[in-house]
Amino acid sequence: MNLMKLVIGKPLGFCFGVKRAIDELERALGRYGEVYALGSPIHNEEEVKRLISMGLKLIEKVECLPPNAVVFIRAHGTTPEIFDMVRKKGSIVIDGTCPSVKNAQEKARLLSKEGYNVVVVGDPKHPEVQSIKGHALGEVYVVTSPKDVEAFPAKDKIGVVSQTTQEEGMLLAIVSALVPKSRELRVYNTICKATLHRQETVKKLASETEGVIVIGGHNSTNTAKLVEVAKKEGCDVLWIAKSDEIDEDWLKNKSIIGIAAGASTPDWLINDVISSLSCR
Ligand code: F3S
Repeated sequence: MNLMKLVIGKPLGFCFGVKRAIDELERALGRYGEVYALGSPIHNEEEVKRLISMGLKLIEKVECLPPNAVVFIRAHGTTPEIFDMVRKKGSIVIDGTCPSVKNAQEKARLLSKEGYNVVVVGDPKHPEVQSIKGHALGEVYVVTSPKDVEAFPAKDKIGVVSQTTQEEGMLLAIVSALVPKSRELRVYNTICKATLHRQETVKKLASETEGVIVIGGHNSTNTAKLVEVAKKEGCDVLWIAKSDEIDEDWLKNKSIIGIAAGASTPDWLINDVISSLSCR
């Protein structure tokens, strides 16, 4: 008999931006049969495997594109230069850039046009941050923590945008550290609502349960942030990408467990974890 109670967080799984991108990609695969993506279209290996089985081809560089290919731009967006290079190859472009990412790109461009030194709060290696950087004119600084700001030169005008999946507390800490560095500081909080809602959900689950299982790709930033938020709440967290990563030792002595999932985790993976837990 299963004595463990599961509390399912809401919202859970795909955000509107990822859902929109996957829907467009599936439509394109149905229509053209073969679609190229520059880098992984979504940070969830299992979902990517499913899309590859439908005809998706992953490439890392525009140079690897055959002529007149169909190219999918992922939800993280890309730089204007890459868009140009792809179009020059005669490709049909399916733009899956999330509207919230587009908003961050536009804000970075606007700030740079208005003479602000642009600071992006986020992971410098993340494709979304690179796409935001690419839309600003001139130099862009990427910072990950208030510590990075210590060495930051004082500037007359500093403009801040955030990676959409950033944790809000971190954005706040970095903005505070920037205050003494500038005469004029303009901040656009470009963290998307889907991220904020999922972080709130995890906080609630952390306070209501004995432990939270966060389902999401190990390469997914928004999932990593959910894990971070839960840990900050002092919660016992298990991060799994799929059901066979469920740790029996972690489950021991827990009678009430919360279930959360990253914005790039498909329903079919979440349901698989839930039914696997329900069978225990
Ligand atoms: Fe878009 Fe936010 Fe999802 S930026 S892709 S709605 S996590």
